[in-house]
Formats: sequence, C-alpha cells, structure tokens
Amino acid sequence: MKFFFMSSLMFNLLHILKLIQANRSNLKQFLQSNSQKLNFQILEKIFQFHSKIILQTKFFCSDLEDDFPILGEKQATKNPITLRGSTEIVTEFFNYSINNILFMRGIYPVESFKSINKYGLTIQTTTDEELQNYLSQVLQQLSQWLMKHQVKSLVLVLTNVITKEVMERWVFNIECDKAMTEDSKPKQKSETEIRLEIQAIIRQIMASVSILPLLVDPCTFDLLIYTDDDIEIPKAWEESDPKFITNSQEIKLRSFTTKIHKVDTYISYKFEK
Ligand SMILES: *[C@@H]1O[C@H](CO)[C@@H](O)[C@H](O)[C@H]1NC(C)=O
Ligand SMILES: *[C@@H]1O[C@H](CO)[C@@H](O)[C@H](O)[C@H]1NC(C)=O
Repeated sequence: MKFFFMSSLMFNLLHILKLIQANRSNLKQFLQSNSQKLNFQILEKIFQFHSKIILQTKFFCSDLEDDFPILGEKQATKNPITLRGSTEIVTEFFNYSINNILFMRGIYPVESFKSINKYGLTIQTTTDEELQNYLSQVLQQLSQWLMKHQVKSLVLVLTNVITKEVMERWVFNIECDKAMTEDSKPKQKSETEIRLEIQAIIRQIMASVSILPLLVDPCTFDLLIYTDDDIEIPKAWEESDPKFITNSQEIKLRSFTTKIHKVDTYISYKFEK
C-alpha cells in the first residue's frame, strides 16, 4: 500500500514536471483528464509548490509578444491621463475581470456568456440582464467613490451555497493619488502600456483556474467594496463583515497603474489539508 502511494506520487510529480517543461498548454488538459486518478492532496502540494512557476512560465512566454510587439521608445507615446479617464480605465478593468471570473468559476451557466475582444484577449461577458444591471449599479457607485478617492478595495467573494463557507476571495486593492482632482494637470502614461499591464493580469486570472481547487458545490457571489470609514452608505448597500477564509492560500497576481490609480490583485482560496 505504502509503496503504491509512493510510486504514484513519483509518477504524478515526474509527469507533471515533464509537462511543465515540455509543453505548458498540455498541462491543463492532462490535469483535467486525470483529475480522478490523481490524488487530490498530492496535486494540492504540487500546485502550492509550482503555482509560482506555472504562472511565471505562462506569462513570461513569448505569446504575449505575438499580440503586441515589445514597445519601442517610439511606440510608447505618452497619453494624458485625467482622474476621470483613470477612473474609467479602472472601472472597465473591474467590469471585465468580474465577468470573466464569474464565467471561469462556473457561477453562471456557460450559455449565459458571450465572448468579446478586449485588451487583445477574448473575454467572456454575461448576457444575463439581471446580472448586467446589478454589475452596472455596483460599478457606477464604485466609479463615483473612485472619483473621490474613497475606495480602498473591491472584493469578489464566492460562497458555497450548501455549507455557506467562503471558498474564494478575489481581492483588488486600490491605491490612489489623493492630490489629483478633476481639474488637476493630467498625468502622462502610454495607454498601450496600461493595456498591456491589464492584459497580463487578465491572462493570470484566466490561468489561475488550473491552480485553484475545483468548486464542487454550487457557489454564489458577493461584491464587497472597502471604503473610507466616514463614507455615507447608500440605500441599496449594507455593511458587511469581511467574509475572510479560514485556512486560506494566496496567489498574488501582477498589478497595473494609470499613475493615478494602482490596482493590486490577489486570490485567496480555501485550502483543505
Ligand atoms: C503542445 O500542445 C498543444 C495542445 O495539445 C499542441 O497543439 C501543440 O502542438 C503542442 N506543442 C508541442 C511543441 O508539442
Ligand atoms: C461592462 O461590460 C459590458 C459588456 O461589454 C458593457 O455592456 C457594460 O456597459 C459595461 N459596464 C460598465 C459600467 O463599464
């Protein structure tokens, strides 16, 4: 029995290592087709150990350069970025990230999404009217608070419907240049550069599916916005507890900045020992 366990561990490890080296795009397929055979705890350990490597190999690989040539000095022309412009960029980023996470984590049925091209990627967005309305209300409120530098973070929480346990928190921390007002002199940053930074994060969000544990039970989602303490809570909003996860693991993703807002992203997920 013991020997079998050892040998299967070795097999899994060697096989996965080989796949990571040989052909990264096969890794996900392999994991999906073998997930029943593989010992889940072993997989978790491998993932923990390799999550950084997997993310890095995926994102420092050359396909990024196919979509967008590496920026030369000439291409990276600076654009003026105002507080309103920056708020729009950040709100749009949240819109597409949230849509894509809800798709990837299976919170809504696959048929209720359609693909669009954004940031040089194919992104899934919902066609469900209620969900669209809800998201647009949240994003409108968020954008008003962003204009006043009152948002500290946005958190997308996935909760198991049956056990009520929080399974995942997708955290977007926001830092802002509080000196910027609507009338301030715009900051300068290339829009292409911002788009590339956002693209890299959305690629990481997409790839994280191969690292995160399967959500076996159905889940629902909540959006929490952390604001300054002295803010007035609008009617439709309730105060919430932070919905932290006990026994969590974290995956840190890249960040992007408009020079007015900087967004740092990480995923925290429930880890079963
Ligand atoms: C890697 O895997 C993909 C998908 O299975 C396949 O299309 C591609 O040809 C493979 N590449 C190499 C170098 O083996
Ligand atoms: C969010 O994205 C959807 C789909 O592209 C779009 O219809 C909607 O206007 C966007 N909402 C905001 C607030 O950006």
